[in-house]
This record gives sequence, structure tokens and C-alpha cells, in this order.
Amino acid sequence: MLSEKDFISKAFSSVIENGSIQWSAPSNIALVKYWGKKENQIPANPSISFTLNSCKTITKLAFAQKQNNGTFSFDLLFEGKPKEDFNLKIQKFLERIEIYCPYLKDYHFTIDTENTFPHSSGIASSASGMAALSMNIISLEKELNPEMTDDYFYQKASFLARLGSGSACRSVKGSVVVWGKHNEIEGSSDLFGVEFPSTIHTNFKNYQDTILLVDKGEKQVSSTVGHDLMHNHPFAEQRFAQAHDNLASIKTVLETGNLNEFIKITESEALTLHAMMMTSLPYFILMKPNTLEIINKIWKFRSETKTPICFTLDAGANVHVLYPENVRVEVLQFIAAELVGYCQNGQYICDEIGTGAIKI
Ligand code: PMV
Repeated sequence: MLSEKDFISKAFSSVIENGSIQWSAPSNIALVKYWGKKENQIPANPSISFTLNSCKTITKLAFAQKQNNGTFSFDLLFEGKPKEDFNLKIQKFLERIEIYCPYLKDYHFTIDTENTFPHSSGIASSASGMAALSMNIISLEKELNPEMTDDYFYQKASFLARLGSGSACRSVKGSVVVWGKHNEIEGSSDLFGVEFPSTIHTNFKNYQDTILLVDKGEKQVSSTVGHDLMHNHPFAEQRFAQAHDNLASIKTVLETGNLNEFIKITESEALTLHAMMMTSLPYFILMKPNTLEIINKIWKFRSETKTPICFTLDAGANVHVLYPENVRVEVLQFIAAELVGYCQNGQYICDEIGTGAIKI
């Protein structure tokens, strides 16, 4: 089993003076949620997610060798313009990964990044953003060390992304990704995401995710604070045990294609995540009235039409509507007729399962 020290880069066999690399990396939506962490971005429980296809970050990394004067040097451009707000986040990320990537101080970087989704959509860009940046960094390392194997390339990319933002480690490779050690998932690790190892039932092929943008504002409580509140949380231990059980159950569901069970686990996980927020101290609520309106409409539509649609939530008010591709037309009609009114400015994004980061 790989340990943290296996991710410290080896001696380099090449000299690279300058160049540029570009990767896109998608967002992901968790089915079994990660909420609570230990030191060093180690998750308190394992999680599993669908990788998205259209919601992604595209990041170009240009690098030029400089004197290693003991400091990081970078310019950050967001949609072509300098974005001061991101500098601190990037600086912290570089500091965290420096021990694994000691070559970082040998270069000046220009990081040019953009998202395919509107930046004030309430969709967290940290997963796709940190994954895209990590893909670029590992590509630079591969240029310095061309013997690197493909397996190591993706494992280390995910390992680095995790240090940027936990869930980002699930945005590197694969359609369904597990992060966190679980007894029944071969190869699973707390250090990086792994592709779900079994064959996935065709019911989940091109599974659809329509993201209803209920509230596009800044979250009142960040994920970092939320994770922290799981320390000394009265239900923490039961919750972490439940996530292990739900992951075992959803593994069978993904193999057998049982959509009713899929719906039960996915919706229960979403509501449990928010229940953890409501029962922490201090407590908080990220759902909005329209989140609940949408959930009730989905339940009514499902019970009346028997269409296998369900919802999940991330750490915010937006609703992800999940459904198989073969009911796409009727679900989109339902969304347009009954749910759009609950979205801010009527906005929603149609996405589906994707495959992970792509070199451009
Ligand atoms: O990766 P973070 O620290 O932003 O946490 C994300 C947590 C959830 O989105 C709520 C759940 C998950 O597993 O993605």
C-alpha cells in the first residue's frame, strides 16, 4: 500500500527550462458524502462520486526556470485577468505540496484558469480547479521524470488535488470514483481517489445530472468550517459508520443497476449531510426554501409517474437532479414546467457523467 512518503518526487532525469501545459478537469458530485476530516486532508469516512462532464475548469500552466531563492513565484489569471482573491489559496496549496514537489520553487508560473460554468453559480470550483492545477503540476513532474508510470501519474495527481481541496481528488480519473479506505473497495485509499473497480451496470451509462441553481450567492459557512464542526459532533461516529455501510450498499447497486436502492441511498446521504450541519454547534442551514420546494416536487413527480429521478445536494442550496438517460426527455420537460421557477433567474445546467481530466 502506498504511503505519503511514496509521493515525494524522485531525482530528476531531465532538465526543463520552460514550457506550458494545459488540462481540463471536471467537477464531481458525491453520492456518499465526505463530511469531516482528520489532519492532512485525510477523510473521516470514505465517499463515492460521479464525475461530471461539462462543468469543468480549464487551466494552463506556463513555467520558466528561475533562481531557487526559497520562494514560490506565480501570477494567477482568472478568465485572462489577474485575480488577487485566489492568490492566497494557491500560495497555501503550493506550500502544502512543496515537500512532494520540491521543484516548484525552481520555476516562475503563470496559471491561467477559467470555468465552463458561471463563476457565481454556487457550484464549487475548488474540486475542478484544484484537480486541473494538479494535473498540470504532475505533467511538469513527468517532463522532469519521464520514467513515471501512468498509474503513479494519476495517483499522485489525485494525491496533490486532495491536498488542495479534499473532494478534488475525485475529479482526476474515472466516471465513478471512491476516495477513502473501504474494506470492500479494492485499492481504495485515504490518500487519493481510485476508479470504482467493478463493472458499472448499463442503467448508469450516461447518467444525467441537471443542476438547479437555487442560490448563487456565497455560502454563509465554508466547507472547511463545516468539516471542522464534525470534531466533537454528537453524531459523528454513527455518521462515519453509516457512510461505510452506504458505500457497501451503493457498490452493489452500481453493479446490479437497482435504481430504487440508488435513489434511497443517494437522497438519504444528501439529507444526512445537511442534518449534520443542522445538528453541529454552531448549527447552520445551507438549504433555502426553494431547495425544499424542489425536493417536494421531485418526490411528487416520482410517485405519480414512477420515473426514477432523485436529488442530491452538496454543501449549498443548489439541487442536483439525477436520472437515467432513457427518461431524459420527460425529466427535462418536468424541470422546465415545474422546477425552473425555483431557480435563481431560471438558471440550471444540464450535465452528465464524464470520464475525468483531459490534456488539451
Ligand atoms: O472538498 P471540500 O472540502 O470542498 O468538501 C466537499 C464536501 C461535500 O461536497 C459536501 C461532499 C463531497 O463528498 O463532495
